[in-house]
Amino acid sequence: MPAPRRVLLSRIGRLLRTAALLVAGTALGWAQFPAHPGTPDEIQVAPPPLTEGIFPCSGCHDGKAQKPNPIRREMKDMHTDIELRHGPETRWCTDCHDLIDRDKLRLANGDKLDFKVSYQLCGQCHGDKYRDWRVGVHGKRTGSWNGAKQYLLCVSCHNPHSPRFAALAPMPPPVRPETIQRRKGGAR
Ligand code: HEC
Ligand code: HEC
Ligand code: HEC
Ligand code: HEC
Repeated sequence: MPAPRRVLLSRIGRLLRTAALLVAGTALGWAQFPAHPGTPDEIQVAPPPLTEGIFPCSGCHDGKAQKPNPIRREMKDMHTDIELRHGPETRWCTDCHDLIDRDKLRLANGDKLDFKVSYQLCGQCHGDKYRDWRVGVHGKRTGSWNGAKQYLLCVSCHNPHSPRFAALAPMPPPVRPETIQRRKGGAR
C-alpha cells in the first residue's frame, strides 16, 4: 500500500473517532443537563387545589347519566358557584376542559392535560408569566438553587374561572387613642 494512502486512511479514521466521541459526549451532556431548566418532568408542583370530593369529575360525567353538553349556557343544576370572568365573552368551559374526558384539561390544539400540569394550559395564553414562573420570578418557588425546586401552581393563587384578584376594600384611617378617649368622654 503506498504511504500517502495509508496516511489518508488513518486521518479519516481519526476524524471518525473524533466525531463519534463528540456525538457521545453531547448525548451524555444532554442526559446530564436538561435542555430547559424546568421541563415538566422535573417541575415539582403543589397538588391541584381542587375541592374535596369533586375529583374524579367522571364520577358524574360518565358519558351516560351525565351526557357532555357543548352548548354555552348558564349552569343551573351544578357548578352554580362558578362565575366565568376570564378574557372575552366568548370564553367557555370547554376551552379549558375536555368535553368528553372530563378528568382532563384541554389545550387549544385538542391535546389532553392532567390537572397536575395546569400551568401548561395557562402558559398557552400567558407565555410571559409562564416563563417568569419557571425561573422563579412570578409566583412562588422554593428549593435549592442547583437542586430540586417546588412550585405553587398558577391555580394555587389564581382562580382559573375568575382570575382577577378582588380589590381590597379600603379601610378608614387609624384613629389616635386621644381622639377615642375624647369621644368617650363626650364630644366637645
Ligand atoms: C381558562 C380555563 C378554564 C375555563 C374557561 C373553565 N375552567 Fe374550570 N378549571 C380550570 C382549571 C385549570 C381548573 C383546575 C383548578 C385546580 O387545579 O384546582 C378548573 C377547575 C374546575 C372545577 C373544579 C372546581 C373545584 O371546586 O375544585 C370545576 C367543577 C370546573 N372547573 C368547571 C368549569 C365549568 C362548568 C366551566 C364553564 C362555566 C369552566 N370550568 C371553565 C380551567 C378553566
Ligand atoms: C356531582 C356531580 C358532578 C361532579 C362531581 C362534576 N360535575 Fe360537572 N356538571 C354536573 C352537572 C349536573 C352539569 C350540568 C349543569 C347544568 O347544565 O346546569 C355539569 C356541567 C359541567 C360542565 C359544562 C359542560 C357540560 O358537559 O355540561 C363542565 C365543563 C363541567 N361540568 C366540568 C366539571 C369538572 C371539570 C369536574 C371535576 C373537577 C366536574 N364537572 C365534576 C355535575 C357534576
Ligand atoms: C385561551 C387563552 C387563556 C388561557 C388558557 C388562560 N388565560 Fe388568563 N386571560 C386570558 C385573557 C384574554 C385575559 C384578559 C386579559 C385582559 O383583560 O387584559 C386573561 C386574564 C388573566 C389574568 C389577569 C386578570 C386581571 O385582569 O387582573 C390572570 C391572573 C390570568 N388570566 C390567569 C390565568 C391562569 C392562572 C390560567 C390557567 C388556569 C389562565 N389565565 C389561562 C386568556 C387566557
Ligand atoms: C404565589 C402566588 C402566585 C402564583 C403561583 C402565580 N401568580 Fe400570577 N399573580 C400573583 C399576584 C399576587 C399577582 C398580582 C400582581 C399585581 O396585581 O400587580 C399576579 C398577577 C398575574 C397576572 C396579571 C398580570 C398583569 O399584568 O396584570 C397574570 C396574567 C398572572 N398572574 C398569571 C399567572 C400564571 C400564568 C401563573 C402560573 C404560570 C401564575 N400567575 C402564578 C400571584 C401568583
